[in-house]
Amino acid sequence: MATLREEIEEARREALAALDKAGDSAALDEWNREYLGKKGRMTALFRGVGALPAEEKAKAGQAINSAKSELEETFSQATERVVEGEQQQRLQAEAVDVTLPGRPAPDGHLHVITQTVRDILRAFEHMGFQVYEGPDVELDIYNFELLNIPPEHPARSMHDTFYIDDRLLGLRPPGASMDDLPPVILRTHTSPNQIRMMRKIEPPVRLVVPGKCYRSEATDATHEAYFMQIEGIAIDHKVTLADLKGTLAAFARAIFGQDRRVRFRCDYFPYVEPGVDLAINCLVCGGKGCRSCKYTGWLEIMGAGMVHPQVLINGGVDPDEYSGFAFGMGPERIAMLRHSIDDIRLFYENNLRFLKQF
Ligand code: FA5
Repeated sequence: MATLREEIEEARREALAALDKAGDSAALDEWNREYLGKKGRMTALFRGVGALPAEEKAKAGQAINSAKSELEETFSQATERVVEGEQQQRLQAEAVDVTLPGRPAPDGHLHVITQTVRDILRAFEHMGFQVYEGPDVELDIYNFELLNIPPEHPARSMHDTFYIDDRLLGLRPPGASMDDLPPVILRTHTSPNQIRMMRKIEPPVRLVVPGKCYRSEATDATHEAYFMQIEGIAIDHKVTLADLKGTLAAFARAIFGQDRRVRFRCDYFPYVEPGVDLAINCLVCGGKGCRSCKYTGWLEIMGAGMVHPQVLINGGVDPDEYSGFAFGMGPERIAMLRHSIDDIRLFYENNLRFLKQF
């Protein structure tokens, strides 16, 4: 029968050989449990010491302790080696090739209507106009009444208006009737800014006012319920229709090309007198007549006119001292003409294949 000392020596050799083969952390854990753990081989050997005669106890205890220390030391070296190896493997697996060229992030760009609006504003800025903005949610009096469009006026039917129940906005006391305050609407055009601007800024002024407009109308190839307008207004001493014509002709040529011809015809808007519409000769046929211009040779691009004296008074401007002109145009229609687009609805469908072209 093997003596305890021989058993210790055998356990030690076996343990060292097994440790040599333990190649990863799981195997090391297993080894640790088997040889150094509470139920492991070394603990079992310690138990055998109790049965020895007194004179052998000390020596056997020493032998086990020294074998155990040796195993612990070797185990900690092996652990270090294995952990390091595993770390190296992980780093290799996760290695990033920093010399690879990056994947380019796709560039966004301005929406074609934003580009058009900016081009239009820039053309007017070159002529000394400043940019101003007003609210989308507007009072009926600014949108209509102060522009000579009282409640029963037929011009209201051209503006299919979205009314806002402004009790939701907390503007009227609870229980108050809708007649207690003037109605709140979504502006149907940017013209209310004529009044807002006149009340705010002393003449002389030259302003352009871009903004969204809302009309509750059925959409078609040339009509949206949500579209943009750019309003313009110039007020000073002795502003005449000639100033209006010169300014708008210069604008049309800046946007559509220097050889563009322009046509002014009488038109009616309650807040200007006289009122005109401005057309350019057709971009497709050059004026001969085609489907795009409905065989007239002309494309209308905006409404305009001399600010009505009553509107000047409503804005707090003395019509005996000052006069002015105003105009309003739709950038979507201008973008359609510039880029030969035949349906206004394409602008707001968010179809990237369409939008990326501009
Ligand atoms: C007006 O809104 C006037 N306020 C313009 C004006 C201003 C005249 C100052 C005189 C002085 P009109 O309803 O025609 O006018 O609209 C002007 C432009 O807005 C049109 O030429 C068109 O380009 C654009 N527009 C009008 N309705 C729509 C719509 N539903 N969808 C897209 N564009 C529209």
